[in-house]
Amino acid sequence: MTRTVYVNGDFLPEHEAKVSIFDRAFLMADGVYEVTSVLGGKLIDFDGHAKRLQRSLDELEMRNPVTVEELLQIHRDLVEKNGIVDGLVYLQITRGAPDDRDFVFPDPETTTPTIVLFTQNKPGLAESPAAKKGIKVISIEDARWGRRDIKTVQLLYPSMGKMMAKKAGADDAWMVEDGFVTEGTSNNAYFIKGNKIVTRALSNDILHGITRAAVLRFAREAQMEVEERNFTIEEAQGADEAFVTSASTFVMPVVEIDGVALGDGTPGQRALRLRDIYLDESRKAAI
Ligand code: PDD
Repeated sequence: MTRTVYVNGDFLPEHEAKVSIFDRAFLMADGVYEVTSVLGGKLIDFDGHAKRLQRSLDELEMRNPVTVEELLQIHRDLVEKNGIVDGLVYLQITRGAPDDRDFVFPDPETTTPTIVLFTQNKPGLAESPAAKKGIKVISIEDARWGRRDIKTVQLLYPSMGKMMAKKAGADDAWMVEDGFVTEGTSNNAYFIKGNKIVTRALSNDILHGITRAAVLRFAREAQMEVEERNFTIEEAQGADEAFVTSASTFVMPVVEIDGVALGDGTPGQRALRLRDIYLDESRKAAI
């Protein structure tokens, strides 16, 4: 089936959608994005993603070409036009396409932002077999820029990190800076020891995950202790459980870090419980 995608005000078959070669995101990674999951035909955590999008745009002094209401309608129209029951909606806004390549930002009066959205069909997204087995991660140096709180399309290093993990026979990588774990290549990282969940505190060093915010809220409601602080790979290796969170994987148990199995090497009970709670509550609140 040909996907219907959205580009600058138009719904088009994917092969008819076009963006200029002078687009700032193509030439300079001058763009921001969001990924929102769809379960049962409804959007998960839409408000959180819309707010973070606005924050990313504000931090980069980029104009938002759509209102939140328009954005929601475009998401819903795409889900419907593509018959998505379970899947993802990818959204990207760039600084637009000036007449020529130039490091200086183009005049926002004459260069309008580019906005693109498309869906990814993922039947059974919440019943992922990986969640039953858990994933293995390796640690790698965090070689990204210093504003990881802005969700930009500069994804080359995370992409290289995934390839390093793949070559090492693992599923993903946790990035380490100055001896402490920042986050996963495309997710936030946690370990559990006893009744306590530990994850890095919010700062410019990590993306402020929308799933992270919800999961930590549910964890506190379930009487789990939450500690937001720096931690090392060694500390996580000595934990009872570990997991990652993101809009595309929800709560995903981690069973091995740099070749060291956690607990008995199977997904931890608390991580699985948090996954169930997150999925239940998110489905209830989906719009
Ligand atoms: N990635 N950290 C990084 C570096 C990420 O790229 C992501 C999300 C997260 C989790 O954020 P959230 O819970 O809001 O999805 C943390 C998306 C899913 C992606 O790039 O596909």
